Amino acid sequence: MDVYEKIMALARRRGILYKSYAIYGGEAGFYDYGPIGSIMKNNIENEWRNFYIIKERFYEISTPSITPYDVLKASGHVDEFIDKIATCKKCGRSFKVEELKDGKCPICGGDVEHGEMNLMFETYIGAKKKDKAFLRPETAQGIFVDFPFLYDFFRKKIPFGVVQIGKGFRNEVSPRQGVLRLREFSMAEAEIFFHPENKKHENFEEYRDKELRLLPAGMDEMKMKVGEAVKRGIIGNEALAYYMALTHEFLTKVGIDENKIRFRQHEKDELAHYANDCWDAEIFLQRFGWVECVGIADRAAHDLMAHMKATGVNMYASGEKKIKRKKIKPKMDKIGKEFKAKAMRVKEALEKGVIKNGKIEIELDGEKIELDEQFFEVEEMEEQEKYIPHVIEPSYGIDRIFYAVLEHNYKEMKKEGENYVVLSIPPSIAAIKAGVFPLVAKDGLPEIAKEIEAELRKNRIMAFYDEKGSIGRRYARMDEIGTPFCITVDYQTKDDDTVTIRFRDTTEQIRIERNAIVKWIEERIK
Ligand code: GLY
Repeated sequence: MDVYEKIMALARRRGILYKSYAIYGGEAGFYDYGPIGSIMKNNIENEWRNFYIIKERFYEISTPSITPYDVLKASGHVDEFIDKIATCKKCGRSFKVEELKDGKCPICGGDVEHGEMNLMFETYIGAKKKDKAFLRPETAQGIFVDFPFLYDFFRKKIPFGVVQIGKGFRNEVSPRQGVLRLREFSMAEAEIFFHPENKKHENFEEYRDKELRLLPAGMDEMKMKVGEAVKRGIIGNEALAYYMALTHEFLTKVGIDENKIRFRQHEKDELAHYANDCWDAEIFLQRFGWVECVGIADRAAHDLMAHMKATGVNMYASGEKKIKRKKIKPKMDKIGKEFKAKAMRVKEALEKGVIKNGKIEIELDGEKIELDEQFFEVEEMEEQEKYIPHVIEPSYGIDRIFYAVLEHNYKEMKKEGENYVVLSIPPSIAAIKAGVFPLVAKDGLPEIAKEIEAELRKNRIMAFYDEKGSIGRRYARMDEIGTPFCITVDYQTKDDDTVTIRFRDTTEQIRIERNAIVKWIEERIK
C-alpha cells in the first residue's frame, strides 16, 4: 500500500472520507465527507475565512450553483471551457489527450478518435428545454454578476474583495486521481477588485521579506523574497505577490508542510481563457507529485467587461482623478438651416466625431462631408475618471488541500512493538479537540469524566467521551483522527480535582486542575 491507499483506508475507517455511492459500486469523481471529515473541512474553511474575512476585511456572499446559459456564454465558459479528448474505438473509454500512450488508448492500446468536450454539466431551468443552464464551473461568476450591488455595498471604494465558498462542478472526462480530481468539489474563491494601474496592497510590507519557492514561466526554480520578485518583474504586481504570500501562510497554518509548497507560473499557452497571468500554489504529494491546489490569477477586466457587453449594465467604477475631455457641441441653428430633415443625424455624427485640423468628417447617406467650426464648438470639460476594475483572484481547491493536510500529517509510529498512526494536524483543524476518558469505567470516574466533557461542549469545544477499551486503545483512536489532547480522570482526580492531559504528538502527560481545563484547551486551539 502506498501512502495514498493507507490514508484513504484510514479515512474510511475513521469517518473522514467515503467514496460516494459506494453501495452502488461508487462513482468516479465524487467523495463524501464523513462525520469527522466534515468537521475538519469546516475548520479548514473557517481558517480560510479568518484570512480573507477577518484579516483582509472582505465579505462573503453566497450565490446559486445553477447558472443561466447567458451568464456563462458571456464569461467565455460555453465556448472556451473545453478539454481535448480521445475516445477509444475498441473499448469505448474516453481520455484527456495528455493521457494517451503513443497516441493509443492507455487501457487497451486501441486506436482513438479525437474530439472536444465542454466540462460543464448541463441542465434546464423550469419545464422549457430551451432555458438551458449549467452547474457553475467556478463560484467567481456569481460575484462578478453582482458587481454593481457590491460596489455600492463597499461605498464605491476600490480596492475591495468579495469571497465565496461553495461547490463547483466539472464533468471531468475520466477522473482517475481519486479525491484529487472531483467532478463536484469545494472551492474557496476571493475576487479582489483593483484600479487597473494600482494593483498594490496596503499591507504589502507584512510579506515583503517572506521567501517563496518560485517557478516562473520559462525560468529555473528559485527561492526569493516576494518584495524582490516584484521589484525584478518576476511577479507581475504587488497584489498577486501579496496573495501568493498570504496563501503560503494559510497553507502552512492548516498543516501543509512548508517544504512541499511551490508557486508555478502558468506558461502563456496554459492560461485559462479569462486569465492574463496565473501562479499556482502546488503541493507535493507522494503518489501524484506536484499538484495544483490554489490558482492565483490576474483576470484583468475580462469578466466585468464581458457581462457589461452582454447586459448593457454599467460595470464602471469612478476613479479619484479628474480627466480633461473635449466635448463637441453641435450648433443646431446652423445645422438645421443647412441639413433640414437630416439635422439630427448630423448632430449625432458630430458628437461622436474626431476633430482633425479644426474639422470633423462625418458620413451622411454614404457620402463623406467635412464640417468646420461654423457647425460646432468645443467645450473643455473635467470629468471624473471611470474605469472597469481589474480582478485578482486567489482560488483554492479545498478538497485537494484537505487531502494534502492528511498526507503531510500522517505519521506511522511504533510503541512497545505495536504500530499506530498519528495525524499530527494543527489543533485548530482537528475535528475533536479533546478526548475525555475515565481511567476505568467504575468507582465514580465515568461521572466526573462526563461532567468534564459536558463542560467543554458548553464552552463550544468539541470533546468526545470514551470509556470503551483499554486506555491505550482509546488514545490510539484519538491519535488517528488528530485529536490533540486527551484528558484522563483517574483516582487522584477524586482526591485533588486534577486530571492528566496527554499530548498527541509526544505522548507526554501533564497534570492540571480540573477547573483550568477549558481555558487551557481554548488557548491551544487558537
Ligand atoms: N475561478 C478559478 C477557477 O475556476 O479555476
